[in-house]
Amino acid sequence: MIIENSLSALSFLRDRRSVPSLPSFDSILMASPDFFKVAYAINPYMTDESGNLKQVDSTKAREQWEGLRRTFIELGLKVEAIPGVENLPDIVFTANQTFPFWNANSHRYEILLSHMRSKERSPEVSFFKRWFEERGITVHELNYSGAFEGNGDAIFSPAHGVVFGGYGPRTDKEVYQELSDRFHLPIVRLELRSKDFYHLDTCFSILSKEVAAVQPEAFTKEGLLTLQNVFNQIIEIPYQENIEFFCGNCFCPDGQNVILQKGSETFEKQLVRLGFRPWAVDTSEFMKSGGSVFCLKLFYRG
Ligand code: ARG
Repeated sequence: MIIENSLSALSFLRDRRSVPSLPSFDSILMASPDFFKVAYAINPYMTDESGNLKQVDSTKAREQWEGLRRTFIELGLKVEAIPGVENLPDIVFTANQTFPFWNANSHRYEILLSHMRSKERSPEVSFFKRWFEERGITVHELNYSGAFEGNGDAIFSPAHGVVFGGYGPRTDKEVYQELSDRFHLPIVRLELRSKDFYHLDTCFSILSKEVAAVQPEAFTKEGLLTLQNVFNQIIEIPYQENIEFFCGNCFCPDGQNVILQKGSETFEKQLVRLGFRPWAVDTSEFMKSGGSVFCLKLFYRG
């Protein structure tokens, strides 16, 4: 079922009120930044004002990545990492190569492989296929031949039992029909209309069953209304802080703690006011490639 207007969101939620939450995710998959750099430009953040590729400080990137890893561990998450691969600098953004979801046919969490939009990133996917298969987790391939960038655009919410599915810059609208038909996934399908917020995870973050952070400028009017009908409370992400500090790419693993890039002072205050606990980290070297906390990990059930 595809839900893409505010009225169908309301009736869907009414029907599901008594359905219990699914088991939550518990594991984090990262990829080591051994070969991380900005080697091409596939989003607006990867070049400077003169159009040159941004320069990454590898030592700093490694320290920041280790810091993020430690934060996940401190929050009680199980963390594993895939080794980096030469000539695949963006493999560190492990939100993109796969999509973890609840398969209602098998009653298990499984993995769907992405089709990356760019030829530069396409070879990353096979490393994740092997990694999950070696751990006995079922991996599916798409029949659809167009673009689908995994958990960057498709976010499965165990609390709601739905997929929030963004499309436009990186993922095709059509792919969600297959997800819905093949795995019986209810999809809240959302058009992304700004090139600055090119993945759903740059402009939308689920904080709890009731609360989400949303960048209004990234969505259509109907998309916003739909989100307002799914969540009791929406935090409007301050535009400038999201562009500068990627706070829309924050990550809340447990309905309480929110890991985010440091610097988003207004957004942090909004979080605290609603009872969340912000954990500010530094991902500035990775922001040069257009990604921060949410993109640097895959959250799944191990
Ligand atoms: N350079 C990467 C790309 O453009 C960054 C990916 C960020 N990932 C994300 N889930 N937003 O593909």
